Amino acid sequence: MKNIKQSAAWLLFALSGTGTPLLAQQLITVNTKSNALVLEVNKDKELGTIYFGEKLEKEADYSRVSAQYHQGNEYTGIYNSAYTPAGSKNLFEPAIAVTHADGNISLSLHYVSHTTKAVSKDVSQTEIVLKDPVYAFEVHLFIKTFYANDIMEQWATIKHTEKGNVTLTKYASANLYLKGNNDFYLNQYHGDWAREMNPEQSHLTHGIKVLDSKLGTRADLFQPPVFMVSLEKPAGEDEGKVLMGGLEWAGNFRNEFEVDPLNNLRIISGINNASANYVLKKGENFTTPKFWYTLSTHGKGQASRNIHNWARDYKILDGKGDRMTLLNNWEATYFDFDETKLKELIADSKKLGVDLFLLDDGWFGNTHPRNGDTAGLGDWQENKKKLPNGIGTLVQSAKDNKVKFGIWIEPEMVNPKSDLYKQHPDWVVKQEGRPEHYFRNQLVLDLTNPKVQDFVYGVVDNLFTKNPELAYIKWDCNAVIYNANSKYLKENQGNFYTDYVKGLYSVLQRIRTKYPKVPMMLCSGGGGRVDYGTLEYFTEFWPSDNTDPMERIYMQWEYSYFYPALATAAHVTDWGKQPIKFRTDVAMMGRLGFDIVVKHLNDTDLQYCQEAIQNYNALRNTIWHGDQYRLQSPYEADAASVAYVSKDSNEAVVFTYLVKNRYEAGTHTPIKLKGLKADAQYKVEEINVYPGKKPAVETAIYSGDFLMKVGINPNVNTYNTSVVLKLTQV
Ligand code: GLA
Repeated sequence: MKNIKQSAAWLLFALSGTGTPLLAQQLITVNTKSNALVLEVNKDKELGTIYFGEKLEKEADYSRVSAQYHQGNEYTGIYNSAYTPAGSKNLFEPAIAVTHADGNISLSLHYVSHTTKAVSKDVSQTEIVLKDPVYAFEVHLFIKTFYANDIMEQWATIKHTEKGNVTLTKYASANLYLKGNNDFYLNQYHGDWAREMNPEQSHLTHGIKVLDSKLGTRADLFQPPVFMVSLEKPAGEDEGKVLMGGLEWAGNFRNEFEVDPLNNLRIISGINNASANYVLKKGENFTTPKFWYTLSTHGKGQASRNIHNWARDYKILDGKGDRMTLLNNWEATYFDFDETKLKELIADSKKLGVDLFLLDDGWFGNTHPRNGDTAGLGDWQENKKKLPNGIGTLVQSAKDNKVKFGIWIEPEMVNPKSDLYKQHPDWVVKQEGRPEHYFRNQLVLDLTNPKVQDFVYGVVDNLFTKNPELAYIKWDCNAVIYNANSKYLKENQGNFYTDYVKGLYSVLQRIRTKYPKVPMMLCSGGGGRVDYGTLEYFTEFWPSDNTDPMERIYMQWEYSYFYPALATAAHVTDWGKQPIKFRTDVAMMGRLGFDIVVKHLNDTDLQYCQEAIQNYNALRNTIWHGDQYRLQSPYEADAASVAYVSKDSNEAVVFTYLVKNRYEAGTHTPIKLKGLKADAQYKVEEINVYPGKKPAVETAIYSGDFLMKVGINPNVNTYNTSVVLKLTQV
C-alpha cells in the first residue's frame, strides 16, 4: 500500500545522556503525499501525537523525533494526547469528557490495537482502539488519508457497556497537535446575514481561543466552521506553512486553539458541547462528525487547490459532474407572481440562454397563503390562486422552452400561521410555558422525531413523484433554534442539537438513495449553513443573499480558499450599482445564475448577457474543474485578479476587477499568471467585451514562460472596470 507505512515494530530507544531507562514505544505513522502524522503509544499505553508536519525521507527518523519530543517534555510532564480524555492525568483542554454510569467523571484511554485498510487506490483508513482500563468504555479513533490531495479526516466512535447510561459532556472529533517551535497565526471568519466570510487574522497567544456556534440550525450565520492556521508567519498565496481545516457538520461546532506553556498548539474540533450533554445508552455507538484538514508548505494557494480537488473527488455530491446555469425569480418577483408571470419568466430563461428556471419562495399555502414571509411554511401544497394548474404546468412550460425546472423549499421550518402548526404542535421546537420566539416569523421542526423526518422526506418525495421531470431543488433554512426543546426526546434534551443534525442527515440520505444525483442547492438565508458534511448531499451552496458584485469579489475570494467554484452559486442581480458586465463577470467565477427581470434589460445588455453565457458555457469546465489561482488580492491592490487553469494547462481564464474608486485606480503593471506550461504558446484574447466597446486587451500570442514571469496587464481602470481574458494554447 503506497500511502500508509506503518512502523509495526516496537521501537526501542534510550534517551541519551539523561540516564532515563529504556522505553518501549510503538509508532503509528500515517502519511499523505507531503505530510506525516506520527502517533506514539508510550510505556503507559497512552496514545500521543509526536509529529505532524512535512514527511521525513526516512521512516526510521521518526523514532528520533520521538526521542527529541520526550527530551523537550520530560520536566513538565506534558503529554500531547492524540485524543485527550478528561479527569485523569492530562490536564489540558479535553477532547472527550464523560460522566460514567456510576457518576464518576474520570476517563483514561489506553491503546489496545490498530488496523489500517485501503479504501481505494488513493484513500486509506486507520482505526485505533482505545479503552478505559477501569470502565467498560471505549473510543475508536479514525484517521482517513487522501494521499494525493494531502488531506486527512479524523473522527471518533464512542461506545460503552456500563451498567446504565453514560453522559458524554464533550465529544470532539479530533485533537491535533503542532510542535511549539513556531508562532501561530489564526485566520478566522465572522459574518451575519448578507455579510458572510469577513476574515480576521490574529497571533495566537497562550491560553485557549474558541470559535463556535450555538445557533442550532443556520449554525454558520455568525461564524463558519472553517479556519486557517499559519506557522511561523502569516502564509502567502505561494509561500509559507498553513493548516486549513473545518468540521463536517451542519450544526453547532466548537473549534479550540490552545497554546500550551511549551508553545505547542493543540487544535480540538468537534460538535459544540454547550447545552449538549449527550446521553449514550449501553451498547449504542456515537460517531462524531469528521474533521478535515490539510497542511501546505507552499502557501494558501496550494492548500486550497488540494481542498478543491478533494472536495470534487470525494465530498461534494456529483463533484466531478456538470452544473446548470439558471434564472431565479426571487428578486425578480419576490412573492408576487402567478402562472402567467412565471411562464413569461420561463420563456425569458430560454431567451437568455440558461439551462434552468428556478421557482423560489411563495408557491405554496392555501389556508395561509405564502404571500410574504409571515405565513404558509409547512403547507407544501401549491397555492391555488397563484398556480391553479399546479407545478406540473410550469414543468411542462419549461420543457416546451427547452429549459429545466427547479423549485425552492424550506422543509425544516414552520410558520405559526400554517395548517401544519395547528395539526402538529408537538412537532415544533419550542418550550412549553415560555413565549415563542421567532426568527423570520418562523420556528423549526423537530427533526429528532422520526415522524418529522418522514414529513420532511415526504415534501421532497411528493414533489418528485408528482413532477418526475423536476430537475433541481433549492433547500433553504432561514431560522436559528430558539427555546431548544424536543417533545420527542423527553428527558434527554442534551441530545437535541446533535440528534437534530443526525435526523437531517438521515432524511438527506433517504432522498439521495432515491434521487442520487438531482442537483440541490444548500441555502440558509445565504451562507448560514456551509460545510463538507452537508455538501455530501448537495451539489452547490448559496454563499450569501448579498449579490452586490463588489461584495462578492471579497466574499468569493474567502470562500474560495475552502470551496471550489463549481459548488459556489453566484447570481447576477440588481444589487450594487455596477453595470451588467461587471455583475456578470463576477458571477462567472462561480456557478453562474441570474436573478433579474430579463425584459428590463435593454437590447445591448441582453446581447451582452447572451454572449457572456455562451462564453461561460465554453469555459465552464475550466472554471469548475480546473485549478484556481488567486493572482492579486482585492485587499492589497486596486484590482482583484483570479485565474482558473484547466488540469492540462491548455486553457485558462483570468478575471480582473477594479475594486478601488480613486483617481487613476487600475492595473498599472502586468499581472503574472500561474499554472501555465512555460514552453507552450497561448493565444490571449479578451472575452465578454461589451457590444460596441473597444477591447481593453488586444489579442496576441505569448509564451507561458512570458506570461508567468512578466505577465500581462488586463488594463483594468475606471473605464474598463472588469476584464476577462481567455487563454488558449495554440
Ligand atoms: C432566503 C434565501 C433567498 C430566498 C429567500 C426566499 O433568504 O437566501 O435566496 O430564497 O429565502 O424567502
